Amino acid sequence: MPPRRNRRTSISDVAHHAGVSVGTVSNVLNRPDRVSPGTRERVETAIAELSFVRNGSARQLRAGTITTAGAIVLDVANPFFTDVARGIEDRLDEAGYTLMLASSDEDPDREARYLRLFEEHGVQGLMVVPSTPDVSHLLTLRDRGLRVVLLDQPSPVEALSSVAVDDRAGAAEATRHLVTLGHERLAFINGPHTIRQCADRSAGLRSALAESGLDPDEALTEVTITSLNADGGQAGTEQVLALPDRPTATMCVNDLTALGALRALRAAQVPIPSGMAVVGYDDVTFAGELATPLTSVRQPTHQLGWRAADLLLTEEDVPEHVTFQPELVVRESTTGTA
Ligand code: RIB
Repeated sequence: MPPRRNRRTSISDVAHHAGVSVGTVSNVLNRPDRVSPGTRERVETAIAELSFVRNGSARQLRAGTITTAGAIVLDVANPFFTDVARGIEDRLDEAGYTLMLASSDEDPDREARYLRLFEEHGVQGLMVVPSTPDVSHLLTLRDRGLRVVLLDQPSPVEALSSVAVDDRAGAAEATRHLVTLGHERLAFINGPHTIRQCADRSAGLRSALAESGLDPDEALTEVTITSLNADGGQAGTEQVLALPDRPTATMCVNDLTALGALRALRAAQVPIPSGMAVVGYDDVTFAGELATPLTSVRQPTHQLGWRAADLLLTEEDVPEHVTFQPELVVRESTTGTA
């Protein structure tokens, strides 16, 4: 990974800026009770003004013994992200890099905490699935000398390289499949639109309904869940089943959520697909192995991770924006005879 232009701010820079000794700065960082409030405030102001970040592995970095990249995904418990992480790891390994991995749980504060920790640990680069549409904090990291690649996110700014999958196209293809089967009332169990993937999938679904001659406001009921996993899918499906004019097909924001939908439908003894067709998203390993194999939108997970790491390791000063296309995999949860 070519070195970036900016030099990291050192503890000496902070001491000089605050007009104190390096030892005093070290005390503020490690033993603040030993420093008078006035001096502590001067040092903390200098840290903020210089955007100083402690570097927990500075010694190893000087020795060149650590080459590490960090990745923050939404949830490592989601097989989609573990498959993406494997792609990242395989590319980093080719360059002798190690990977630090964390989940933001779609929480911007948790994401910020891990970004700070990774920077303190001296990672040379970061791949981030942003938990909010605003990526200005990632641009700041880039300005401080870190390589940053947006992962599973088309870049809203030219300056940040990105690797993503066209989620609008994926959701639209799944919708056309259901409309072709004769479904005219659909449910979509989705996360909040502050999560880009959720917003794009909803937009793709709605545009495909309109293109098929159906009014999205009439044909679609979107149920919002906060946990994009099986429990969230089960709770969302219970809401769908309680609808007065029950839809005949349910799309889910991902395969984990679809797993919960299948659980709820089984508990309500609703046959799949004749009572309710179900479509997932990601086509993770278990999708085809279920008792009712799941129709799902396949994402090129390993390639997504591999390419993000490749961009991080080889990025020239001109950012790159890579978009992969998803593919619908049709199985019995929409076309079966049950
Ligand atoms: O985290 C929600 C979803 O976004 C994942 O399941 C995967 O589809 C990602 O793109």
